[in-house]
Parts: sequence; C-alpha cells; structure tokens
Amino acid sequence: MNKKSDYKDKPTRREFIHIATTTVGVVGVGCVALPLVTQMNPDASVKALAKVEVDVSRISKGNEVTVMWRGKPIFIRRRTDQEINKARNVSLKDLKDPQKDEDRVKKGKDEWLIMVGVCTHLGCVPLKQQGEFGGWFCPCHGSHYDISGRIRKGPAPVNMEIPNYEFVSDSKLIIG
Ligand code: FES
Repeated sequence: MNKKSDYKDKPTRREFIHIATTTVGVVGVGCVALPLVTQMNPDASVKALAKVEVDVSRISKGNEVTVMWRGKPIFIRRRTDQEINKARNVSLKDLKDPQKDEDRVKKGKDEWLIMVGVCTHLGCVPLKQQGEFGGWFCPCHGSHYDISGRIRKGPAPVNMEIPNYEFVSDSKLIIG
C-alpha cells in the first residue's frame, strides 16, 4: 500500500523530463534577458553622437535655423536687440509658466535662444515668426509662444524646453 503511494508521489520519467525542461527554459530566459538589457545601455560611441556641433556664424540677427538632436528639432534663433527687449519687458505675472528671459539664455549670449522646437501640449512642431506674441505658433491646437519660447496663450502647459548646450567659441555651439 505504501509502496503504491510512494510510487504515485514520485514523478514519472516523462514528468521529470518536463519539469527539467521547464526549469532550463526559465533559466534560459533569464540568461537571454540580461544581454538584451545590457545592449539597451548606450555605449560610448552612441553617447558621443548624442552631442551636435553647430556653426552659428552664418545665422544673421533676426533669423533662425533648425537642427536635429536626438530626433528632436532644435530651434537656434539669433534675436535682435528689439526682440530681446520685448522678451524682457514682459511681466512674470502675465506668464502661465513664469520664467525670466535671462534664465532661458546663457549670460553674455543673450541674442541666442536655443530650445527644443516641440510644443509642450502634444508635441507638434511650432511655426516660427507666427502667433500673437512675435515668437512661434503651434497650429495643432493654437498655442502661442513669445520670442523667449514661453507659452503665452493656448493649451500648452509650459514653455518650450531649453536643452543642455554650450558655446565653445563665438561661432561654435555644442548641443547635448
Ligand atoms: S500640440 Fe501644440 S497646441 Fe496642441
């Protein structure tokens, strides 16, 4: 009687093979997943590509260019003195996302506005020199940005983002 019960509790050869295969399968998945995660971490060459160098010497005052960085458009605008004054004469209490123009540019490089050209509402690319505030206008749902890239009217919740960047010389800008 006991013998029969013992026999039932022991896995048959077929069951044993099935259990063994399942275990190997699970371990196998664990081993495969780790290299995939490791591959998702960018190596040094990818990180290097994460920076973009731009020669800004040919951008005249009152004009802008768009470059791509990490798949996003970056607006590089060389503002006129009049545009800078206009941006700085705005009261912070009139802004949805209060931020001084001085805090959106580098000290001593006030004419250069460098920002991610993506509307902060749902991600469209705003049109330059359009809208009610002399900056950019997003036609998707009607967001107006001023000449500092700050949201002034429409559904976008915050100002356009300022990326990391630095001027390594008067004409050379590195974004990233
Ligand atoms: S995406 Fe720009 S207003 Fe909606």
